[in-house]
Amino acid sequence: PSAEDPETSPSHHQATLREIQLNLLECKVCFEMFNSQQRERRPQNLSCGHVLCLECITALSHPLLRKLECPFCRQLCSVDSTSHCQVLSDLQELLLSQKSSSSAPPHRSKGGFISETALHLFAAFGGWGTLTNPTGIAVLGSVGGVVVVHDGEKRVVVFNQQGRKLHSFGEKGTGNGDICYPVDLAVSPTGHVIVTDAGDKSVKVFTSRGIHVVTVKDCFQLPWGVDTDCCGRILVSDLQAGNLLRIKVNFSHGIILESQNVLANLCCPKAVAHCQKNGNTAVLEHPRGRHHNRNLKVFTKDFHLLYQMDSFSLILQTSFRFNISDVAFSSDGDVVVSDCDQGLICSLGNLQNHPVLTPLVGVHLIRPAGLVILNNTLITVDGGDHTVKIYSSKPGA
Ligand SMILES: *[C@@H]1O[C@H](CO)[C@@H](O)[C@H](O)[C@H]1NC(C)=O
Ligand SMILES: *[C@@H]1O[C@H](CO)[C@@H](O)[C@H](O)[C@H]1NC(C)=O
Ligand SMILES: *[C@@H]1O[C@H](CO)[C@@H](O)[C@H](O)[C@H]1NC(C)=O
Ligand SMILES: *[C@@H]1O[C@H](CO)[C@@H](O)[C@H](O)[C@H]1NC(C)=O
Repeated sequence: PSAEDPETSPSHHQATLREIQLNLLECKVCFEMFNSQQRERRPQNLSCGHVLCLECITALSHPLLRKLECPFCRQLCSVDSTSHCQVLSDLQELLLSQKSSSSAPPHRSKGGFISETALHLFAAFGGWGTLTNPTGIAVLGSVGGVVVVHDGEKRVVVFNQQGRKLHSFGEKGTGNGDICYPVDLAVSPTGHVIVTDAGDKSVKVFTSRGIHVVTVKDCFQLPWGVDTDCCGRILVSDLQAGNLLRIKVNFSHGIILESQNVLANLCCPKAVAHCQKNGNTAVLEHPRGRHHNRNLKVFTKDFHLLYQMDSFSLILQTSFRFNISDVAFSSDGDVVVSDCDQGLICSLGNLQNHPVLTPLVGVHLIRPAGLVILNNTLITVDGGDHTVKIYSSKPGA
């Protein structure tokens, strides 16, 4: 028995300790560590079983009725039936007394999320006028160009990676080859630009120079997110029909060869991402009503459900209030999401087990709307200031 058991290895124990500190020993509302010596930071148990610090319980409760809705399960709880959660205080004491120098508490900024991020801003360009309310982004692999769809007169804009505008196409309009209401775009392995048009409910294919090749119509109720798979087939989510279509097109001759419904019973699917490494597909659902929690679903290449989580369970597991706007895969197959409320981009890991949150970008962003990853470069389009922002792992590289 010489092989090291990963379950008992020191690094495994440290990861478990870190999990405990992050997920049990801090208040999931204010992200402050519980502290039994400090009255307002005392872990306090609601009648539903969830635990908050006393200060947050006071802040969230109605001053006269002395009742609050649990921020995790929404159960109505009375302030007077809360009690000091002694076991958590004991656990904290125990960990503090055993703490070795190597198990420092995880670094967090005052705002509640980790302030150190892995990527650095390398370039930013566009801005109001050049881009107007951009919603989707893709890269032209061959030349490393950045393609954006937006609300301008010509709806598709192509930049080089230094931010110089190369050309634009896709006139605003309803004519053949015009674009009404562009939502998302993708680039095929052949370098064709594919745009979803929610205006005339179609998918439009152009060459990289902007020559209209073909329009796919009549098979959508409301096409939304788009990506291509390894074989160049187009994956389109239909927000209204609740499905994912896979369309095979002969790009050079503009012929629609096949259209197949590969996923049904999705709930308002929007963003779609395909992983070039393992063939998985991620879909982001936007259910209406009921707290509006968005669901992230990952499917295998045969479209079997591999993983799913709603933003609520993600909050519980990562202690961070996500409002996911887009999803992409890194070249290693990790799932990367953008958050439109706090302006963050995070990796969730490969989701083999539970999400392992790694913040990638936490500054400069206002409302990231689209996300694409190319090797060590992450490119996002920010709907907040109408810009494209390029991040790389090496500063200034
Ligand atoms: C939490 O509170 C409930 C009801 O107030 C109580 O029954 C339960 O024992 C408490 N649990 C802990 C771990 O303190
Ligand atoms: C596209 O269609 C043309 C005409 O049918 C055919 O000659 C060509 O091989 C096709 N291209 C691909 C990539 O299938
Ligand atoms: C998430 O962001 C959208 C805007 O992109 C907003 O309309 C929605 O209310 C937000 N959802 C939550 C739960 O905060
Ligand atoms: C990305 O990496 C692949 C190999 O991993 C390489 O062939 C390709 O040229 C790289 N692309 C860019 C734009 O650097």
